[in-house]
Amino acid sequence: MLIKKPISIKSSEITSETNYLNRRNFLKSSTLIGGSIISSSLIGANLPDEPFAELKDVQPSKYSTDEKINNFLDVTSYNNYYEFGLDKDDPYKNSRDFQSRPWSIEVTGEAEKTGVFDIEDFIKPHLLEERIYRMRCVEAWSMVIPWVGIPLADIIKTFKPLSSATHVKFETLHDRERMPGQKSRVLKWPYREGLTIQEAVNPLTIMAVGMYGRALPNQNGAPIRLVVPWKYGFKGIKGIVKMSFVKSQPKTSWEMAAPNEYGFYANVNPKVSHPRWSQARERRIGSGVFASKQPTQLFNGYGEQVAHLYDGLNLRRHF
Ligand code: MTE
Repeated sequence: MLIKKPISIKSSEITSETNYLNRRNFLKSSTLIGGSIISSSLIGANLPDEPFAELKDVQPSKYSTDEKINNFLDVTSYNNYYEFGLDKDDPYKNSRDFQSRPWSIEVTGEAEKTGVFDIEDFIKPHLLEERIYRMRCVEAWSMVIPWVGIPLADIIKTFKPLSSATHVKFETLHDRERMPGQKSRVLKWPYREGLTIQEAVNPLTIMAVGMYGRALPNQNGAPIRLVVPWKYGFKGIKGIVKMSFVKSQPKTSWEMAAPNEYGFYANVNPKVSHPRWSQARERRIGSGVFASKQPTQLFNGYGEQVAHLYDGLNLRRHF
C-alpha cells in the first residue's frame, strides 16, 4: 500500500461544505427541538441513482464523533480502491465512468431468506443514519468521515440468519472491464472481507450508501460498502455485490495476499506493529505537512462499544 499526495478536483464536483455543515446543524437542532425528527412520512430509505445526489431524511446518531470532519476533497481524492489502480488518486481518476446502476446484491448461505435483491429493495426497509466516524488505515493515516448508512444489524435481521451462521462474508463486484484494476494480480479478485456475526451486528457496524449527506462517490465504494470503525480501513469493503452467511471464518483478500501482515480481525491496535512499520501513531490527513502524528487508540477509540467482543482473545495472535 503506497501513500501519495491528493490531487485536485474541480470545485464544481465538490459538495459545498458550508451547505453540508448548515444542513447538519439543522438536523442537530431539529433533533433537540423535536426529540426525534422521524416523521410519519418516513417509511424507508430511497437511494438516488446518481453518485453525489442528496440523500433525504438522514437521521443523526449518538455514535457520531464531534471531531473535526475531513474535507470532501481529502476523502474523495485520497483513496484505496485497487480495482481502480494502486495510487491514492487513481480511484478518483479511474472510477469516473463507473456505472453503479443497475446494482443487485446476492444474499446466500445460512439464512431463512436468501436471493438476489435490487439495491433499492435491499435498503428500502431501513432508515438512513449519519455516522461520523474516525477511519484508521493500516498504512498509519486517518480521517474523520461523515458516512450515511444503515446499521448492518438491521439489514441482517431481515434475512433471519440461522444459528449455524458464525460469520458474514462480503464480496465486491468481479468485472475486469468495469473494474480494470482487476486485470492486475496484486490481489485475488474479487475483493473479499468478513466479520464474525457478533461484529456484524454490533451497533457501530454500518453499510454506507453515502457521505456528506450525499450518495457515495464511486471512488468511496458506490453504491454500497461496509464501514467498521474500530478496524483498519481495509475491512471496509467497497462495491458489495454479495453477502453470505457462513459456518466458518472466511478467507479475506488481504489475509490471502500477506497472512503475516494482515489478519482476519484487523482491530486497530497501537501495540501490535505491522511487520514493516509501527502502528503506535497516525497521520491525520488534512492536518498539514508540519503537524505531528497523533497517538493511535486501541480499537480506534471505540473500545467502550466493542472491547467485550474480544474478551479472552489474544489480540497479538489474532491481529
Ligand atoms: N474495497 C475494495 N473492493 N477494494 C479495495 O482496494 N481498499 C480498502 C477498503 N475497501 C479496498 C476496499 C482499504 S485498504 C481502505 S483503507 C479503505 O477501503 C479506504 O476507503 P476510502 O478510500 O473510502 O477512504
